[in-house]
Amino acid sequence: MKHIIVGTDRPGSKSRVIAEIMQGLYRQNGEEVELLDLREIARGFADGPQYGDVKNPILVEAASKIEKSDGLIIVVPEYNGSMPGALKYFIDHLKYPEAFEARPVAFIGLGGMFGGLRPVEHLQGVFGYRNAFIYPERVFILNVWNHFKKTEANPNGEFKDPLLLQLMDKQVRGFQAFVNGLKQVGLHTSNRTLK
Ligand SMILES: Cc1cc2nc3c(=O)[nH]c(=O)nc-3n(C[C@H](O)[C@H](O)[C@H](O)COP(=O)(O)O)c2cc1C
Repeated sequence: MKHIIVGTDRPGSKSRVIAEIMQGLYRQNGEEVELLDLREIARGFADGPQYGDVKNPILVEAASKIEKSDGLIIVVPEYNGSMPGALKYFIDHLKYPEAFEARPVAFIGLGGMFGGLRPVEHLQGVFGYRNAFIYPERVFILNVWNHFKKTEANPNGEFKDPLLLQLMDKQVRGFQAFVNGLKQVGLHTSNRTLK
C-alpha cells in the first residue's frame, strides 16, 4: 500500500485537505492509499527525542508503515522558506537506510507565490541523499488560500481548481506507473535485500 504523508502538524491544515483529495483521486484510479498525518504522528514526539531508538507506539507504527510502503506521496507546505520542522523531525526519526532506500516518492507542494517549490526542492535533496526513487512530476499549489472557495455547505472552503485537479490526477496515474515499472525491473525497495 502507498501512503500519503500530511507534512505538517498544524491544526486545520490545508495540506490535510489536499492529501484527502489525493486519496480520492487514487481511489478513482482503482487504488486505496492510507494517510499518515503528522498531526497524529507528532503526538509521538511528546516523549522527547528518540533518534534511532523509537519506542513511542505512535512513532513505531508510523515508521513500520513507511518501511513497508509501496510508495510515499508527500504533501508539504512551505514554512519559512522550507519544509515544516515537524516533517524533518519525523524523517530524522526513521530508520537508515530501510525507511527510504529504493522507495518511490512523489511530492505536492503548497504555499504562497512559489507554491511550495522550496520545501519540495529541499525534500528532493533529502530523499536524493537517502537513495529514494524520486518521481519527477511534482505538483505546486500557488497561493493556496485562493483555491479554497467558501460555500454555505462548506465554510472551510472547497478546493475545486480544475487545472490543479487535472495535474494531481496526472501525478496519481504517473506515479502508479512509475512504482509498477520499478517493481517489474526489480529495482523497487520490495525487490531488494538490504545489507
Ligand atoms: C509557520 C508558517 C510559515 C509560513 N511560511 C511561508 C513561506 O515562507 N512562504 C510561503 O509561500 N508561505 C508560507 N506560509 C504560508 C503557508 O505555506 C500556507 O498558508 C499553507 O497553506 C500552509 O499549509 P498548511 O495549511 O497545511 O499549514 C507559512 C505558513 C505558516 C503557518
